Amino acid sequence: MNDAREQPIEYARNRAHDLLANAEADLAAGRITEAQYYNRGDAVITPAYLAGDNPRSQSGHSGDEDHWRVARSHICDAFHRSGTFLDVGCASGYLMESVRRWAAASGVDIEPHGLDLSPQLADLARRRLPHWAHRIHTGNAIDWLPPQRYDFVRTGLEYVPQRRRADLLRHLLDHVVAPGGRLIVGSFSEEVPALLSGPTLAQQIVTWGFVVNGHAERPHYHDERLLYRSLWIDG
Ligand SMILES: C[S@@+](CC[C@H](N)C(=O)[O-])C[C@H]1O[C@@H](n2cnc3c(N)ncnc32)[C@H](O)[C@@H]1O
Repeated sequence: MNDAREQPIEYARNRAHDLLANAEADLAAGRITEAQYYNRGDAVITPAYLAGDNPRSQSGHSGDEDHWRVARSHICDAFHRSGTFLDVGCASGYLMESVRRWAAASGVDIEPHGLDLSPQLADLARRRLPHWAHRIHTGNAIDWLPPQRYDFVRTGLEYVPQRRRADLLRHLLDHVVAPGGRLIVGSFSEEVPALLSGPTLAQQIVTWGFVVNGHAERPHYHDERLLYRSLWIDG
């Protein structure tokens, strides 16, 4: 058995599993408010990312460049044309740079923008990417009102409590995605079909009343129990 498979699958899927699960339980029990939920995540994530010694670790990714590409580049499958791209939860801004580079290899011209809950991480992204500093914003995706709309908007659902996830998608589609644009969810890790006991994330999103118009997936870099996935909803 290799190291990856010795790790419980919850942690293989998301290294912040305990942090999110505890905050979720405290929120559901009324021990914390929603504002405290966000503050609690930020208090752990921001110092950990700022301590990173490369732009991947400063975006929460522990692997090397090859691993990063395998885990994230399928997001570009959602780009059916050139356009603007907003990375919700941009951290160091490395995904902004990466998707522009990966898409360009297929002849697609992507103009990246960023948003992060953490002022310190948004500042880090602005320092790293001074030519895009004016495109990097601070705010909470659940209610942020943008200065413009974007053709492609990427988000993670884990950025908000479970009970607000449908609201997050609705808000981004109604206020942030440009007419004719796409809302991309992911990347996220999901169990391979043989191991999945409940609905897929795409199936859950459909039960919330959205139409999932496409998806992409890749084998996991080192854990055969998991797939990297992303999916998109046309605005
Ligand atoms: C794992 S990093 C993602 C980095 C990069 N976008 C990627 O996909 O690899 C998650 C980032 O989302 C930010 N974040 C978490 N909750 C958020 C929210 N509600 N609104 C905006 N950003 C949020 C965190 O501060 C963190 O920088």
